[in-house]
Amino acid sequence: MSGKHFDQAAAGWDQQQRRVELAAKIAAAISSTLPLHDKMKALEYGCGTGLVGLALAPELATLTAVDTSSGMLEVLARKIKEEKISNVTPRCLDLLQEPLSERFDLIFCAMTLHHIKESDQLLARFGEMLVDGGYLAVADLQEEDGSFHDAEADGIMHHGFNPQDLVKTVTALGLTQVSVQEVHSIIKTSEAGIERAYPVFLLSGKKG
Ligand SMILES: C[S@@+](CC[C@H](N)C(=O)[O-])C[C@H]1O[C@@H](n2cnc3c(N)ncnc32)[C@H](O)[C@@H]1O
Repeated sequence: MSGKHFDQAAAGWDQQQRRVELAAKIAAAISSTLPLHDKMKALEYGCGTGLVGLALAPELATLTAVDTSSGMLEVLARKIKEEKISNVTPRCLDLLQEPLSERFDLIFCAMTLHHIKESDQLLARFGEMLVDGGYLAVADLQEEDGSFHDAEADGIMHHGFNPQDLVKTVTALGLTQVSVQEVHSIIKTSEAGIERAYPVFLLSGKKG
């Protein structure tokens, strides 16, 4: 999907129960797997409307919520205003084009890596942006046959990932305590009426 597609999808994004349910599962898994605390400075990459980030923000000191879609970020900004949230800052940014000099105690990324062609480069960037002892959490689809997204969807750079390949990548970047768990399975029914399950994994690790 292109940035424009996400801009157009933003207003109705939270209406789809499947997305809300998945985000809640990912947030719960991050919260129960990593030692979050209220001194943590966190960054979410590909935050969308904040379905995952806003669930975790009460456990954190600050959350920088980054996305390349201004439409998604407008929805997030509206929620922040309406819910009087003071520790979440939306930023429109492509980290591969414009690195941030700030460092974070936690970086998380949900259902976004498969939209990034240079996914290994992005993981390396996350590694650089973590403080020593900081945590990384990445949730995405396990390898699938391309049937997850609609045929007209663009911007799909990977049909999911083999989590063990990502384990190798982040271990080579210096992360330790790397683990993978299945956090949810998205059930979709094809036009032919066939139900399929698309598992979603959470990869986590610690820098140093
Ligand atoms: C499938 S949505 C997931 C949104 C949110 N994480 C969630 O779980 O509801 C993918 C998000 O990644 C963003 N995105 C796509 N390409 C991106 C890029 N190169 N850099 C940052 N964000 C990107 C999109 O704008 C969109 O908000």
